[in-house]
Amino acid sequence: MNALVVSAIEKSFGPVDVLRGVDLEVHGSEVHAVLGENGAGKSTLMRIVLGLEHADRGTMTVGGKPYAPRNPADARRAGVVMVPQERTLCPHLDVIENIVLGIEPSGPLGVLREKDAVAVATRALALVAGEGRIPIRARAGAMSVADQQLVEIARALAQGGESARVLVLDEPTASLGKSDADRLFERVRALKESGLAVVLVTHFLGDVRDHADRYTVLRDGKVQGSGDPKTAPPEQIVHEMLGRELESVRGEADAAKGGAGYRGEAPGGGAETLLELRTVAGVAKPRAASLTLKRGEILGIAGLVGSGRTELLRAILGLDRVKSGEVVVTAPRGMGLLSEDRGGEGLMLGRSIAENIALSPRGPLFVNPSHTRADGARWISELSVRSSGPDQRVGDLSGGNQQKVQIARLLREDFDVLLVDEPTRGIDVASKAQVLDLLRELAGKGKGIILVSSQLDELVSTCDRIAVLRRGELSASRPATEWDEEKLLLEAAS
Ligand SMILES: Nc1ncnc2c1ncn2[C@@H]1O[C@H](COP(=O)(O)OP(=O)(O)OP(=O)(O)O)[C@@H](O)[C@H]1O
Ligand SMILES: [Mg+2]
Repeated sequence: MNALVVSAIEKSFGPVDVLRGVDLEVHGSEVHAVLGENGAGKSTLMRIVLGLEHADRGTMTVGGKPYAPRNPADARRAGVVMVPQERTLCPHLDVIENIVLGIEPSGPLGVLREKDAVAVATRALALVAGEGRIPIRARAGAMSVADQQLVEIARALAQGGESARVLVLDEPTASLGKSDADRLFERVRALKESGLAVVLVTHFLGDVRDHADRYTVLRDGKVQGSGDPKTAPPEQIVHEMLGRELESVRGEADAAKGGAGYRGEAPGGGAETLLELRTVAGVAKPRAASLTLKRGEILGIAGLVGSGRTELLRAILGLDRVKSGEVVVTAPRGMGLLSEDRGGEGLMLGRSIAENIALSPRGPLFVNPSHTRADGARWISELSVRSSGPDQRVGDLSGGNQQKVQIARLLREDFDVLLVDEPTRGIDVASKAQVLDLLRELAGKGKGIILVSSQLDELVSTCDRIAVLRRGELSASRPATEWDEEKLLLEAAS
């Protein structure tokens, strides 16, 4: 029986046709992956299913009955819940408060029944994270991104209550390390087996092959293909996503890796040192971290979520207190950070693309708006940001395209040292190659780059040297040629 049927859905924002007649059928007890490039319309479709946006044309059914949610509360009553792409937890509330927000169980006088709230929240948490994994009284803002993601899912399930029949997950693993992602998929399988229909939006084709029963590809607002990911060749899926041959994508990916032997060109001992850490310790993490970064090289930092990668970058920049040790910055043009948290620290969502790229603490006091727009337009084409132009609000861009704006903003400042935290998060296959390519190019021009990534293949293919961070301890770096994914994972998880 079809849990969710979407028929001929159309949606435009102003002149932009985002969805142009989309059909999608999701069965109960099925994980259905929805794939497509950044800006293909995946999140927009899901927002329509949730009643957060309204289709211009088309119809839907849930459990065989006509379904036209005016808002998420309507969707919830029909048993449809979602974990959106961008995080929605209230940072100052604790885990329980976040989970029951809006569905607070109350007694006859409207008094919050604390005990019931704890019971509802604990039950939902046990479903996604296992018993006791997440402290229920922790403030959401103080938790790791991975734990916040698990709480988001628990919240969606609690909101759907007993009647949940469709669960939409929009890029649930984008900020999770491998072990957290595996655990999440274990839970997703259990939910599916209990009869739930799960819609999984993701850029990870490996996860689709391993965990989805069917897939549907969107491109330019239309369905380009669908099938069984276990039998469909990955080349075919990528072709459906990009509308061109995998060979050309491979070419781009190889270019990103520097093709034939860029590593040979990595700076030798003679290159100028830009940054040195001497046994730097933060309040909790890192512990006694030492490293040297030279002009022209990319130093990769591998480590599980929670190992202290972001803390290391923050300590280098002086954003967090350094308890002991020394950070010696010799880079004449300073350091810039690409934050892992693009909505929170990274971008001004209410401002235009051009403004986001132009406004910076180092920018001039008075800016000429026409220059700002021209500069914005140049970066839009440089990084292939899918948008209606430099004046579009960044908050209206797709998640992957927001990430590209953040990258543009960092690059235009011309720092000597770039600290990049998960630069390809939420970015589609083609753009991923492009971003990594860009990092290589920047290193080639003499920048020093520290690249933090959960994607181990990305580290191995892009970096000159890689160091591993484990529970706050940074290992000595070794040439990337001595590492492969398995070795990195073993080292990080040991
Ligand atoms: N409120 C809005 N106003 C204007 N344009 C919008 C709005 N919401 C989405 N869009 C546009 O619709 C297109 C599709 O965006 P959507 O977020 O659905 O993409 P996506 O497939 O989820 O991409 P990603 O993989 O990057 O998350 C984008 O070009 C985006 O800029
Ligand atoms: Mg999206």
